[in-house]
Amino acid sequence: MTNATGAPLKHLAIVMDGNGRWAEKKNKNRLFGHVKGTKVAKQIIEECSRLKIENLTLYAFSTENWHRPRVEVSFLMKLLTKYLHRERENLIKNNIRFECIGQLDRLPGAAIVEINKTVELTKHNTGMKLFFALSYGGRQEIVNAAKLFAKDVQLGMRRTEELTEELFSSYLSTYPTPDPDLVIRTSGEMRLSNFLPWQLVYSEIYFSQILWPDFTVADLHQALHNYNHRERRFGKTSSQILQDRI
Ligand code: IPE
Ligand code: IPE
Ligand code: MG
Repeated sequence: MTNATGAPLKHLAIVMDGNGRWAEKKNKNRLFGHVKGTKVAKQIIEECSRLKIENLTLYAFSTENWHRPRVEVSFLMKLLTKYLHRERENLIKNNIRFECIGQLDRLPGAAIVEINKTVELTKHNTGMKLFFALSYGGRQEIVNAAKLFAKDVQLGMRRTEELTEELFSSYLSTYPTPDPDLVIRTSGEMRLSNFLPWQLVYSEIYFSQILWPDFTVADLHQALHNYNHRERRFGKTSSQILQDRI
């Protein structure tokens, strides 16, 4: 997929935000918003697959979200477990390959079992790659990459001098997926909340006022349409970009 100015869209990332506020606006428990949020996630995943987007990363639970009330955290973990159990067949049917990034060892055993099963049973699928960022924190990911590199230096497998941006990227959990071209955040919050700080340095960002449980396929299309008209210059001038396309 390429936009009107010639920029590709190989990777879409979404910060699915606003579940709690959506429920509270309806005088319901925040948890109700999370349930509706998973239904929206299913629709958006299927539409992205239909649109042949190569990679989709969904921010589902951050390392900071562990600090939420225990009841909410445990509900979210159960919801994730049930969701994967229920959706696995659909992922297979849609030829979607499922993977996760984040500190998965912090998740409850039942969730890890469902994740592993889903990863295993979809690993030969050749369609869209779907990544759930779970217990994910971007700074932790960078620190972890630094540790892994340092270890390789200690073992004599790498030299400090050979470290480049590309090599460093290969120590991140997203490797070898290309960096997101577009990141969508719903609910009107204009921040990244520790989501892919290394990978998003040159991504186009689209903020939507809509709360995630209200986000529709039409809203997704609107975001993609907006991306279609962005000129990605990567530090160059507009005329250089035009020249590059000829
Ligand atoms: C996003 O919705 C889902 C998760 C972070 C798990 P929120 O739960 O953050 O909803 P708001 O932002 O409080 O409305
Ligand atoms: C970011 O949303 C994490 C996810 C959407 C999973 P939060 O709602 O946790 O982010 P902050 O705390 O408002 O920045
Ligand atoms: Mg939020």
